[in-house]
Amino acid sequence: MRNKISIVGAGMTGSTTAHWLAEKEIGDIVLVDIVEGMPQGKALDLQEAMPVIGKDIRVVGSNDYADTAGSDIIIITAGLPRKPGMSRDDLLFANADIVRKAAEETIARSPNAIFVVLTNPLDVMAYLTMKVTGVEPHRVVGQAGVLDSARMRAFVAMELGVSVENIHCYVLGGHGDEMVPLTRASNVAGIPLEEILPADRLEAIVERTRKGGGEIVNLLKTGSAYYAPAAAVAQMVEAILKDKHLIVPSAAYLNGQYGLNNIFFGVPAQLGRQGVEKIIEYRLSPSEQAALQKSAQGVAENIAKLKL
Ligand code: APR
Repeated sequence: MRNKISIVGAGMTGSTTAHWLAEKEIGDIVLVDIVEGMPQGKALDLQEAMPVIGKDIRVVGSNDYADTAGSDIIIITAGLPRKPGMSRDDLLFANADIVRKAAEETIARSPNAIFVVLTNPLDVMAYLTMKVTGVEPHRVVGQAGVLDSARMRAFVAMELGVSVENIHCYVLGGHGDEMVPLTRASNVAGIPLEEILPADRLEAIVERTRKGGGEIVNLLKTGSAYYAPAAAVAQMVEAILKDKHLIVPSAAYLNGQYGLNNIFFGVPAQLGRQGVEKIIEYRLSPSEQAALQKSAQGVAENIAKLKL
């Protein structure tokens, strides 16, 4: 049986996610959007690319949730992206309405699906998805940490002229400017970043990572990043469908880990066919733990605003 992956929101991140997933040939894809004709057009265009890249998958575009029935994975990217001057939190109420509807409509048709959430503010939207669908917390995961860590890896690679494959970075916390790049655990071919980079260069990379999304919003002016966020989602979906037990920074439900409760938050999580299999707990320094607490407070305040 082939896997079925439905993507709600066929905008920039949704359609780019479909593109990355098609390259991986891990399942048939359904793109759903409220705009008439657009998901159908993008799906047909992508389908017509399959003979060129030699991948046998089916891509369908739709305005009807009926087409998502029986999905193994539901990806939620529907919503408004940031414009210059906006924080991710500014999107809270508008995107909550959109995500609520997407979650209700999809769980009704795919009761066994695992949900991968991308809509911002990410940690809050993942929490909302868990509440609205009523699924076990391990079946909802949010994408943020893979992206934030990839940005940091890219910046280190640019600085050192080393392959991105040698660079491992771990960014924890909420997907906002209070995120916590763990410089102690990040390394180049096993050598801690703190030993390789002068303190001021490392601090500059940490700062650029924190503001990485905003840097792209300011350049694009009409929307937010989509290549890297979509690639990150595709990696997580692949880890789940292939039951890889891959550990990646993800927004996962915490129930005591890192001293946090009843919150979705960016932590290293092991992903497999059941969704989030395990939360990995680093031994943090007091300053790292304090930074994490500060970031968590912001997420918790936004969750409270939704009065779920
Ligand atoms: N149901 C389905 N699709 C919807 C709905 C809805 N109720 N409301 C909006 N959409 C669709 C829009 O029509 C649009 O095609 O969601 C899509 C969003 O696409 P873009 O505007 O291109 O935004 P994108 O860059 O993909 O970002 C979407 O992901 O990364 C986050 O911050 C980002 O929250 C934003 C989300």
